[in-house]
Amino acid sequence: MESPYEHPYPSPELESEHPFIEYAFERLAGDEMLRRARDFRDGSERRRSIRLFSPDPVPRQLIELAVEAASTAPSGAHKQPWTFVGTRDPEVKAAIRAAAEEEERVNYLENRMNADWLEALEPLGTDHHKEFLEVAPWIVVLFEQRFEQRSDGTTRRNYYVKESTGIAAGMFITAIHRMGLATLTHTPSPMGFLRNLLGRPDNERPFVMFPIGFPLEGTRVPDLRRKSLDEVFVEVDRLG
Ligand SMILES: Cc1cc2nc3c(=O)[nH]c(=O)nc-3n(C[C@H](O)[C@H](O)[C@H](O)COP(=O)(O)O)c2cc1C
Repeated sequence: MESPYEHPYPSPELESEHPFIEYAFERLAGDEMLRRARDFRDGSERRRSIRLFSPDPVPRQLIELAVEAASTAPSGAHKQPWTFVGTRDPEVKAAIRAAAEEEERVNYLENRMNADWLEALEPLGTDHHKEFLEVAPWIVVLFEQRFEQRSDGTTRRNYYVKESTGIAAGMFITAIHRMGLATLTHTPSPMGFLRNLLGRPDNERPFVMFPIGFPLEGTRVPDLRRKSLDEVFVEVDRLG
């Protein structure tokens, strides 16, 4: 077939300087695409954030696989500006819980969150108690790398750090859900304490924390309604 492109990618000059490989892409039949799309949509629909974890242990290999999946996320200039820091150490988890509860106590009880925010949170019933941070077998803290710190001591800029780390976070949550575990996207802000408690370098800033495990049997979740397709998707067929 004749190429619809006037400007090939990569150009011969580019390819003479940098390696390229053919993209191994399998084109699926239309009905198989639909089946997979529905399957993924339905599976995603069943994901919930939980706030009561079981203490049952979770093998490290599962966490590693979720991190590997998340780390395939696209990132600005392919910088992969993230570090996933995991712990299952009781002392570390207890210290994280204590520090998170202190920040959340100020948030919830000393008006660091405004009235609007508290109203939005009301149906979730969240408060400053974070026992689950000790009960869940794993806590994984996702750090964004504000800049790249090279081993020779030099630094380089990273690009679209928040966008990239956010996409990796979404893929991590999805991987955890698809393997039959559960998590909570948790942001006991400000989260600077996590850098100190976990001994992370200056270029890393906590982005979000994930307690991970199995749900405590019979755990309950808010009966939330998700927006319908009409509310979140618009097709534009003429210029605005
Ligand atoms: C960026 C972000 C921060 C969040 N922070 C918290 C948090 O600190 N504590 C909490 O209980 N839930 C937190 N959540 C979870 C949301 O409350 C939850 O995703 C939302 O209520 C929808 O529920 P679902 O995840 O079960 O669909 C956070 C979610 C996101 C995306």
